[in-house]
Amino acid sequence: MIKKCLFPAAGYGTRFLPATKATPKEMLPVLTKPLIQYGVEEAIEAGIDTMAIITGRGKRAIEDHFDISYELEHQIKGTTKESLLTEIRKVITKCTFSYTRQVEMKGLGHAILTGETLIGDQPFAVILADDLCDNQESSDGVLAQMIKLYEKYKCSIVAIEEVPMEETHKYGVIAGKEIEPGIFMINDMVEKPTSEDAPSNLAIIGRYILTPDIFDIIRKTKPGKGGEIQITDALMTQAKNGMVLAYKFQGKRFDCGSVDGFVEATNYFYKESKK
Ligand code: G1P
Repeated sequence: MIKKCLFPAAGYGTRFLPATKATPKEMLPVLTKPLIQYGVEEAIEAGIDTMAIITGRGKRAIEDHFDISYELEHQIKGTTKESLLTEIRKVITKCTFSYTRQVEMKGLGHAILTGETLIGDQPFAVILADDLCDNQESSDGVLAQMIKLYEKYKCSIVAIEEVPMEETHKYGVIAGKEIEPGIFMINDMVEKPTSEDAPSNLAIIGRYILTPDIFDIIRKTKPGKGGEIQITDALMTQAKNGMVLAYKFQGKRFDCGSVDGFVEATNYFYKESKK
């Protein structure tokens, strides 16, 4: 069973400056809820109860968010505003949060390796909170869908979606053999390729299930694209040694790491809230 989810959250969020100068980008709200809380709720819905968060300097607001604020509770007790805290209270009661700091920014692979002490020797999930996912059509969120698949195949899995070829340079891109509708056995993976070099238009989005042997593989992975240690490269090694799957998830995903995606997500969730 997958019980732990890792949230790499040490990045600077430079695309949202000046908003992210003193506020972690994971705390930017879509409507009234910070991005990272959407991710945590998706993990809870998938049966996960332990959240392992990789933070960095200037990210203490995340820890405070997933804790009780006695002063605030006292202030609003018995008022109509109390209901606004219902969801976050549930989150705090249902799960445990642990934190470790990534001291140097050396890439997503390095961030995941930093979480090894929090994860230990068990399969785990990874959520990149700035990929905000919603699933209106089926009752399962993206992570819940991936965990079901893990139970069948017991190997690392990445979530993918089709993107226009001119956008492959923003993503890890895979190629593979379709073994079931929407499920690919990966045989190639490239981090942020140009459209000419991309093996397909199937882009990795910020949801992963990883088996714990990935930690040793990351340790041996040399810096790749941008001089950073890439999880995409480590997963390619894992795919060569055994099997890694890519899963075309059901639902919607917003790239909240970009202003356009953030605005799109805000409009979408606003409309949904009025239904
Ligand atoms: C990271 C990964 C990339 C993946 C993307 C999904 O890139 O390195 O492979 O496609 O997340 O959001 P980043 O967006 O952190 O640059």
